[in-house]
Amino acid sequence: MVVVANAAFLGLLAGWASAGQLPINPGAVWPDNRGQHIQAHGGGIIKLGDTYYWFGEDRSPESDRDKRYVSCYSSADLAHWTFRNQVVKLADPENLGRRWVLERPKVFHNPKTKKYVMYAHIDGKGGYQFASVAVFTCDSVDGDYQYLKSFRPLGHESRDLGQFVDDDGSAYLIFEDRPFGFRIAKLSDDYLNVEKEMCLMPEHLEGGAVVHYDGLYYVIGSGLTGWRPNPNKYATAPGLTGPWSEFKDLAPPETNTYGSQSTMMLKVVGAKTTTVIFMGDIWKPQTQWDSRYLWMPLEIGGGKLWLPEPKPWTLDLKTGVAQTGRS
Ligand code: GAL
Repeated sequence: MVVVANAAFLGLLAGWASAGQLPINPGAVWPDNRGQHIQAHGGGIIKLGDTYYWFGEDRSPESDRDKRYVSCYSSADLAHWTFRNQVVKLADPENLGRRWVLERPKVFHNPKTKKYVMYAHIDGKGGYQFASVAVFTCDSVDGDYQYLKSFRPLGHESRDLGQFVDDDGSAYLIFEDRPFGFRIAKLSDDYLNVEKEMCLMPEHLEGGAVVHYDGLYYVIGSGLTGWRPNPNKYATAPGLTGPWSEFKDLAPPETNTYGSQSTMMLKVVGAKTTTVIFMGDIWKPQTQWDSRYLWMPLEIGGGKLWLPEPKPWTLDLKTGVAQTGRS
């Protein structure tokens, strides 16, 4: 039985390989061009020209324990990733203590200033009391990002953060504000500040992400259970200011989002169709560097969003068509 399943799977792989495509395999080790598992946890993606850049927490075990790292990878097809640079190698900039954290880095490209601006959650370990965003800038997408400052967006606590760039180019931060809920706020023109609140949802959610699809905004988030997965939820609204629908499950709740936690939704617009990819992290708290990625095309439309059971899949970037194989 096992042999048959393996043979079938190998056949599928061979088919994809001969078609010039290799699958995205949710939950598997994902080697970069050097053969090393990609270190872009809690990450985000931007597209420049035809190239995608993936940024995330680099939790490599050989790292200097006093520093925090963010790595950047590039890809033309979202499946094969080339390591570009450890774009952040930072020592505690705010006297936060030995176990300080730099999490969920997200990079925005500002078309006016031409700068790359990174936001990340910066905190001290004991209770995450600093609850602030760190801002970095760089003149090139994969250069060495310089730490600029930290602050609480609009004066509010901010832990997990997410990014959203709308079809008109406006850039937003989604952040978890423990006393109040889930906020979406617009960045200033130069992206160096958080300027305007779009909405405050009273739900306590983190790992926030937004996509604008077919005239509706969809927001997703996870519950606050630390590294342990939980049933992630979604809501919809005609605009970022709301009114937002109630939050519903985006996967069978008993699967705890198939063991993952949301970090971003990536919209790929092709000639035939548009695919929205759920990007989640399967955390391994004891061996963080081995945390996996759960990327799957979402079933989306008409106010509904659903994460299908994870299986290997391919994406044709030209047509936008995603094809799921059998696992
Ligand atoms: C999660 C959060 C992660 C990390 C973790 C630490 O809730 O999404 O980014 O902060 O808690 O326990």
